[in-house]
Amino acid sequence: MENSQLRDKVAYITGGTKGIGFGIAQALLAQGIKVAISSRSPEAALQAAQALSSDPSRVLGIGSQVGSAAAELKAVEAVVEHFGSLDVLIANAGVGHFAPIDELSYEQWRETIDTNLTGVFNSVKASLDALKQSKGYVITIASLAGANFFENGSAYNASKFGLVGFTQSIMLDLRKHGIKVTTIMPGSVATYFNNHTPNAEDAWKIQPEDLGQMVVDLLKMNPRTLPSKIEVRPAQTK
Ligand SMILES: NC(=O)c1ccc[n+]([C@@H]2O[C@H](COP(=O)([O-])OP(=O)(O)OC[C@H]3O[C@@H](n4cnc5c(N)ncnc54)[C@H](OP(=O)(O)O)[C@@H]3O)[C@@H](O)[C@H]2O)c1
Repeated sequence: MENSQLRDKVAYITGGTKGIGFGIAQALLAQGIKVAISSRSPEAALQAAQALSSDPSRVLGIGSQVGSAAAELKAVEAVVEHFGSLDVLIANAGVGHFAPIDELSYEQWRETIDTNLTGVFNSVKASLDALKQSKGYVITIASLAGANFFENGSAYNASKFGLVGFTQSIMLDLRKHGIKVTTIMPGSVATYFNNHTPNAEDAWKIQPEDLGQMVVDLLKMNPRTLPSKIEVRPAQTK
């Protein structure tokens, strides 16, 4: 059911063409929020936007590589030009490369840090002016890998530990401007992450729509209250 408090707010979701970002986009649209989604592929962004809604006044697909500060500035400009404002940034785009340090390549390290950490910095910086105006909300999608290290995880752990620290710090900075900031740290979610294809055996995992519901709940929370860091895991093991 739509919520009048959220109707016609505007959200920008990085990496919204599939997986968690797409699930959040569906949940926000169902609340009457207008949604822009991005991906490195403009074609995939357009296709996913059309799959979300046939009404271009409610949805926008943008090609943008979050690792590029210039591309993110252009993406946010496009959102504000299309919808007139920006209320919610969901910094979700992310990749994973998993290998022992002696096998991990420089390119894999760079892509992981550039996307998962610098990419969030770029999306936040690009959105700040608009979010200050709307007294908006930033939600970053980190991971339980931002609090627990594991074998083969050096690049991913570094990016997500860094992202949790970054998000908690800007939460304190931006609170002064009336902007809320939350980091969500999921465990296993049934998505396309790391070349996976969601299948029947993923039933035990968190589903993207569960995180969509969590984001809606955060946006509806009393303005005086801020859950700043949320760990969320499957309720059962495999
Ligand atoms: N799945 C899990 O178990 C899990 C658990 C905890 C946290 N997470 C985090 O959740 C976030 C979303 O992952 P997911 O599981 O939904 O994966 P996914 O299904 O692979 O979706 C990733 C999305 O990010 C986009 N993307 C990747 N690199 C990008 C870049 N440089 N610039 C712009 N868009 C980019 C992808 O589109 P293109 O490929 O077309 O660019 C896609 O839309 C990630 O930050 C991930 O680390 C996932």
